[in-house]
Amino acid sequence: MVKVISLVLVVMTFLAAHAVLGEDGKKQKPSKKKDEAVSFKEDIFPIIQKQCLPCHAEDNFNPSELSMDSYELLETGGKNGQPFVAGESKESLIIKKLGEEPPFGDRMPLNPKKKIKQGKAKWLSDEEVRSITKWIDQGAKDN
Ligand code: HEC
Repeated sequence: MVKVISLVLVVMTFLAAHAVLGEDGKKQKPSKKKDEAVSFKEDIFPIIQKQCLPCHAEDNFNPSELSMDSYELLETGGKNGQPFVAGESKESLIIKKLGEEPPFGDRMPLNPKKKIKQGKAKWLSDEEVRSITKWIDQGAKDN
């Protein structure tokens, strides 16, 4: 009888230990991309390509002489200079222009006034703005 009870105890202890380890294993998984480095090439440039290059490309409309075809051109900036301040997203023109109240001109990406009035304007998603903000705060590297 004693043997049976101790066997049950051993099995239970084993199972309990297993369960705890399993839990720990889960907890150690990194929480979704939270502090992961944002890559210019993989995360930021695809957004620019889709949302900004239709206007801000060297061989295009290129408003304010701001071309974003490459990191170098973006860094050079347009009429109002370099559009980002590495490490300071709040000071960065590109972030200010994506917000509801840009310091001059229109909110980017430029939308027809009519669409804005109708509530049909297409802005960047919160996720896209967050990625650009994070990229700048991480040093706006050509990574
Ligand atoms: C449909 C055309 C169009 C698209 C798309 C567009 N822009 Fe613009 N952008 C303009 C025009 C026109 C201006 C000049 C007037 C103004 O500042 O509002 C401008 C100006 C700017 C400036 C100011 C540059 C300077 O030196 O004065 C920034 C920064 C900017 N855009 C960022 C962006 C970003 C970032 C995107 C993509 C998310 C984007 N734009 C998409 C048309 C566009």
